[in-house]
Amino acid sequence: MIDLLIRGAQLPDGRNVDIAIAGASIAEVAPRIEAEAHEVIEAAGRLVSLPFVDPHFHMDATLSYGIPRINASGTLLEGIALWGELRAVLTPEEVVERALEYCNIAVSKGILAIRTHVDVTDPRLAGVEGLLEVREKVKDVIDLQLVAFPQDGWYRSQGAEENLIRALDMGVDVVGGIPHFERTLADGAASVRAACELAAERGLQVDLHCDESDDPMSRHIETLAAETIRCGLQGRVAGSHLTSMHSMDNYYVAKLLPLIAEAGVAAIPNPLINITLQGRMESYPKRRGMTRVPELLEHGIPVGLGQDCMMDPWYPLGTADMLDVAFMGLHVAQLTSPAQMAQCYGLVTESSAGILGLDWGIEAGKPANLVMLDATTPVEAIRKRATRLAVISRGKVVSRSPAPQAELATGW
Ligand code: FE2
Repeated sequence: MIDLLIRGAQLPDGRNVDIAIAGASIAEVAPRIEAEAHEVIEAAGRLVSLPFVDPHFHMDATLSYGIPRINASGTLLEGIALWGELRAVLTPEEVVERALEYCNIAVSKGILAIRTHVDVTDPRLAGVEGLLEVREKVKDVIDLQLVAFPQDGWYRSQGAEENLIRALDMGVDVVGGIPHFERTLADGAASVRAACELAAERGLQVDLHCDESDDPMSRHIETLAAETIRCGLQGRVAGSHLTSMHSMDNYYVAKLLPLIAEAGVAAIPNPLINITLQGRMESYPKRRGMTRVPELLEHGIPVGLGQDCMMDPWYPLGTADMLDVAFMGLHVAQLTSPAQMAQCYGLVTESSAGILGLDWGIEAGKPANLVMLDATTPVEAIRKRATRLAVISRGKVVSRSPAPQAELATGW
């Protein structure tokens, strides 16, 4: 007996199939499944895909917009300063409350895996304590990964390294860093080395805020790739943002891209935030500030698009909608051919799942994590930011939303 049967699911690759789910796993995927089921969902040709994955977020800061004040300039640096004010008075209870509210919004939008950075600068580690509790509370629905993130610098912020190690001891999953925010290029490179050595020692992954600036001479992604190879961390390292690649010299990038590919380092651009925060120090023409996504993809480098922020010191907007992220990424990177547009959908689903190390897929034996959308193709889903009609986690329907219907009174 099947627990849940989805009939007539249109998969992102164009196949139309039935999907049988038993318990928390996919039991069978076939053009037609004749089986008794406790529950049947009629997809009727609608898109059913892997759920959305947000590979880069800040859950300790989300939904704090306006506390204690708003970011008047809208810049990255004022955001960091403002976050410093909030962080000093943060309690674990507040973090849990806001994060759980966010998780509900995320689930309703079909996000079932999130990698969140958690600031370890403050020795009280209130964010770490709060988000470890949240990870435990949501674990039956959301795969939540925590990155120990020294927001004010591994070396630049006194005690950050010790706090980061304490956070890992408490159960934080991934080693973070912010090399471009250290005092010097040399300190930044040393922090990359320290992060990779720590990850190798503990068998962890690395995800650094890396080269998040318009500085064409920022070179930390090069060090990250080299250290990944030296420490044997291939496939376990990601560079988030990489915005300076946008401004780098083409000759240098021609050498850099094969090095990133050789190291198996993944790239996590955050289009909504990168387009908003970069290029702030220039007049016209203004750089876009997002990294070179088409070129990364052409080199076979795994790319996942992240949301980064929602209603926090850095970004006043956001709806936890990874289709917004894909939409913005598609535009800024000019990924407009039919194949490239469809690929953008993959960047917020399977590609990001791969970067987080999740063994997901729409085939027998994989976890029954799926989303059904009010669209028939990935491109239509991006275009419409289609309603997530049903969200299924571990075989259970965890959210349903009706397709919106306008009541028109135009009279023609
Ligand atoms: Fe970030």
